[in-house]
Amino acid sequence: MSPEILLPDAIARAAAVLAAGGLVAFPTETVYGLGADALDATAVRRIFRAKRRPADNPLIVHLAGVDELARVAASVPALATRLAGEHWPGPLTLVLDARPDVPSVTTGGLRTVAVRVPDHPITLALIAAAGVPVAAPSANRSGRPSPTTAAHVVTDLGDDVDVVLDGGPCRVGVESTVVDVRGGVPVVLREGSVTREELGIAGDAPTGDVAASPGTRYRHYAPACRVVVAAAGSLAAEVGRHGTEGGRVGVVACRTTALPNGVVEVARYAEAHELAAILYRALRDAEDAGVDVLVVEGVAESGVGRAVMDRLRRAAAG
Ligand code: TXA
Ligand code: MG
Repeated sequence: MSPEILLPDAIARAAAVLAAGGLVAFPTETVYGLGADALDATAVRRIFRAKRRPADNPLIVHLAGVDELARVAASVPALATRLAGEHWPGPLTLVLDARPDVPSVTTGGLRTVAVRVPDHPITLALIAAAGVPVAAPSANRSGRPSPTTAAHVVTDLGDDVDVVLDGGPCRVGVESTVVDVRGGVPVVLREGSVTREELGIAGDAPTGDVAASPGTRYRHYAPACRVVVAAAGSLAAEVGRHGTEGGRVGVVACRTTALPNGVVEVARYAEAHELAAILYRALRDAEDAGVDVLVVEGVAESGVGRAVMDRLRRAAAG
C-alpha cells in the first residue's frame, strides 16, 4: 500500500489566501465558518455575495486570542473580560462597541461588533498565521442549515469559496450564543451552545430585541423537505398525522423511542447535546434521502435544549 501524503503547509497556504483578500472556509467547534479579513471591506463583500446574505446581517469577527480584542472593539467592559475569561476559546460571541475603522460591511451598518475566539486548533492557528481578525458567518448558503462538515460547505458554496480546510465533523453542532455585554448585564441575542445557566442568566429572562440581532429575523436552517417538530414522546402521533398525507416520512428520534412503521430513520440521538451535534447533518441527510416530511422529536427547553429547539422551530417555519 502506498503511503498517504500529508501536506504540512495547508494552514499557512490558507492563511496567505485570507491575508490576500480571499475566502477560506474553516472548521470551528460549532459549525464551519466562511472567513475573510474583517478589516478588508472588499473581501467581506465577497462573503455576502457567496452566501447571498442580506447586507444588514452583521458578521462575527473571529480572533486568535482575547488580547486581540482591541483591534476591533472600542472598549472592553469588565463583564466582557470576565465572560471571555470563562468561555474563550469557546462558543460565546460578545457584542461590543466597534472601533470606527471596522468596515460597516462587517458590522452590517451597526456601531457594534460581535467577536469570539473559536475553540478549534486548526482555526486558531489559521487566524494567528493570517495575522488579521477574521469575519465569518456560518459557511452555508443563506437560509440553509449550517454546515457541520467540509462536504456541506462545498455542496452549498462550490466555486464561491477559495479554500476549504477540512477538520472533520464539528463537535458542538449548534452555533455560538450571542450576548450583548454593553449594558453591564448579559443580554442573550441568540440562544446557543453556552447556556443561560452557564452565563448566570435566569431561564425566563427576556431575549434581547430582535432588531438588535438582525440575523435572527431571517429565514433559517431550512432543508428542501418540510420539517415538523414533535414534542418529546409524541413522535408516533405526529408521524400518523403527516404519514396520511402520502409521501416519504423521515424521522429523527430519541434512541429509546419506538419508531412507527414505514418511516425512514434519518438519525437517532440519546440526549440534547447529541441532537445539537447531529441536527444540521440530519436535515441535509433527509434531503438527500428524498424525504418529503421530516418529523423531529424535540427535547426539553433547558440547557443546550433551548438553542436546539430554537433552531428546530426556525427550520420548521421553512
Ligand atoms: O458559532 C457561530 O457563531 C458560527 C461560527 C462560524 O463562528 N458563526 C455564525 O455566524 O453562526 P452567523 O453569521 O451565521 O450568525 C451570526 C449572528 C447573526 O444572528 C447576526 O445577526 C449576529 O450574530 N450578529 C453579528 N454581529 C452582530 C452585532 N454587532 N450585533 C448583534 N448581533 C450580531
Ligand atoms: Mg448562520
